[in-house]
Amino acid sequence: MSNRKPMMAGNWKMYKDAAEAVELVQAIGAGLTGSERAEVVVCPPFTALAGVGALIESRGSNIALGAQNMNWEEEGALTGEISPLMLRQLGVTYVILGHSERRQYFSETDATVNKKILAALEVGLKPIFCVGETREQRESGAARDVIGKQITGGLTGVTGSLADRLIVAYEPVWAIGTGLVAEPQDANDMIRHIRAIIGSSYGVETAQAVRILYGGSVKPANVSELMDEPEIDGALVGGASLDADSFLSLLHY
Ligand code: PGA
Repeated sequence: MSNRKPMMAGNWKMYKDAAEAVELVQAIGAGLTGSERAEVVVCPPFTALAGVGALIESRGSNIALGAQNMNWEEEGALTGEISPLMLRQLGVTYVILGHSERRQYFSETDATVNKKILAALEVGLKPIFCVGETREQRESGAARDVIGKQITGGLTGVTGSLADRLIVAYEPVWAIGTGLVAEPQDANDMIRHIRAIIGSSYGVETAQAVRILYGGSVKPANVSELMDEPEIDGALVGGASLDADSFLSLLHY
């Protein structure tokens, strides 16, 4: 058994306005018993970060705050963008970077994801670095190479101890929001592959310490079979994180 602390991170995507987000985190907080098996992270939209952050802080609840994206610059004439420091100042700990929706709809590349990872680490934000292959890539047998390229591209120039500073999320694009969860064993194999790639650049000890999550249609009904796999350290959850009861049951897989 590894001693990696499992993590359940809710990716709320573009759901929940500021008031709804506060309500949801309130309900999650009220349902925590202290016996959760996983570290709890919620990633609301930007407009809800301050409200959710303030509530978490005032309740002293055991919930960490994450954002879903950021720019790599500290500040600048970049209309519509949000900087790493702006997030940090709101009490954000984690930031999802390179999510497939950003790669697909907002032209993010391994190079831009890499700049964001470097900038996040620089200010002490912990990236939840997403990688994943499309259905075509999987069917053509290219998945492992695609993931390898995303990992090495995203981590170019990243130095120092990564163990507690970086989370990776393996999210096959075909499994996101589709109800088609990966076979636990397949997800486990790909995560082992990711760990090996990290090991070849940063050493086995680091690779063994980095948490690697699975994401893609995780729900209460399938979470335990995923969490039974030795390489899977938790989940990045979209749809099933938008309801307090369903998210809470993921924490007690
Ligand atoms: P899903 O989304 O759980 O709704 O499939 C996961 C994600 O996009 O992070």
